[in-house]
Amino acid sequence: MKEIGLYIHIPFCKKKCLYCDFNSYIIHEEDNYIDSLCKEINAYLSANKYRFKTVFIGGGTPTVIKCKNIGKIMDLISSFIKKDGEITIECNPETLKENSINEYYKMGINRLSIGLQAKQKELLKTIGRIHSYEDFLSGYSMAREQGFENINVDLMFSLPNQTIKMWEETLLNVCSLEPTHISCYSLILEESTPLYKLVKSGELTIPDEDTDRNMYYLTEEILGYRGYKQYEISNYAKEGYECKHNLIYWKNEEYIGVGAGSHSRLDSKRFWNVRGVREYISKLDSNEDIIEGYEDICEKEDMWETIFLNLRLNEGLNIDDFYNRYGKGFMDIYEDVVVRLKSDGLLNVREKNITLTKRGKDLANEVFIKFSK
Ligand SMILES: C[S@@+](CC[C@H](N)C(=O)[O-])C[C@H]1O[C@@H](n2cnc3c(N)ncnc32)[C@H](O)[C@@H]1O
Ligand code: SF4
Repeated sequence: MKEIGLYIHIPFCKKKCLYCDFNSYIIHEEDNYIDSLCKEINAYLSANKYRFKTVFIGGGTPTVIKCKNIGKIMDLISSFIKKDGEITIECNPETLKENSINEYYKMGINRLSIGLQAKQKELLKTIGRIHSYEDFLSGYSMAREQGFENINVDLMFSLPNQTIKMWEETLLNVCSLEPTHISCYSLILEESTPLYKLVKSGELTIPDEDTDRNMYYLTEEILGYRGYKQYEISNYAKEGYECKHNLIYWKNEEYIGVGAGSHSRLDSKRFWNVRGVREYISKLDSNEDIIEGYEDICEKEDMWETIFLNLRLNEGLNIDDFYNRYGKGFMDIYEDVVVRLKSDGLLNVREKNITLTKRGKDLANEVFIKFSK
């Protein structure tokens, strides 16, 4: 029996945020989608080859759909989840209701990931969020009262019109609630989004690169001081609360993704489902293949992925683990690259571990690309 991660995609939201290019749509055909999703999941379960050490119900906004539909999915997969497996559901504060939180808890979901993004009302409005900080506070305290101990809060910086002071205020307020995990993402201006057009036309201004970096350093400083250990470029956790599901991605381990547009990595292959909700439903209805494409991952590519994903982690890449995985010495292959990046002040080499320096984190993508050649 293989122990892997399971990602379940719920591609629905109440309203699209102006910056978001995730595969999500205004909610439609919910019940049909859930039936199709269960059909896809069943095909994996009936092979009886997998046990799930983590489950991540993500989106979109999974909490926008009926609670009974989340229950349907959980009923289906429960007996395939390892004891003490981490089971996360992503939520938008506006859709967190007391009875549903209680239901999620009873279903066995043991981790909530709440998207707050920012504290300030005007900032939330500028980026098209549908909730207030007060909605978040009431959802957060209901979750705590219902017994959720492991809670992540998603935040974003470098937002239009956001000042360092505003970011500091958001961080300090969130820290004071003591969630177990905080994700802090620098805004990625995605070309397909309305926010991209607003910034390009000059209607909105985003902080410059120096301010972005200063916000990043401030995050490390404030969260570090409050007992959150940075364990990945954008992720901070109290001791022992690192996200096990995301660690599967960063350690380049195997997972299955189900639902519209989901990606999987299994048996040295990467494959992905059709993106559209209607196409996904109709293909499953007519027993057609929902896999839109796949790639074999050759050893060289696998090595590159392992390197750059591991380097995102604070613990970095472990040379012994690399040898155990590939039967080849890391330094035998990459010594030249490592020496160059080290002398440029981008990499640290400490005994068996290779990590990004502070400057290396700022220029992470440039470092990663050097290992691809
Ligand atoms: C898939 S979203 C789901 C969370 C939930 N739907 C919500 O928004 O409250 C996960 C997180 O990705 C981050 N995110 C989404 N778009 C982003 C972008 N363009 N740049 C940086 N972070 C982004 C946000 O912090 C968001 O909470
Ligand atoms: S950020 Fe979350 S709520 Fe907003 S559109 Fe994206 S998935 Fe939906």
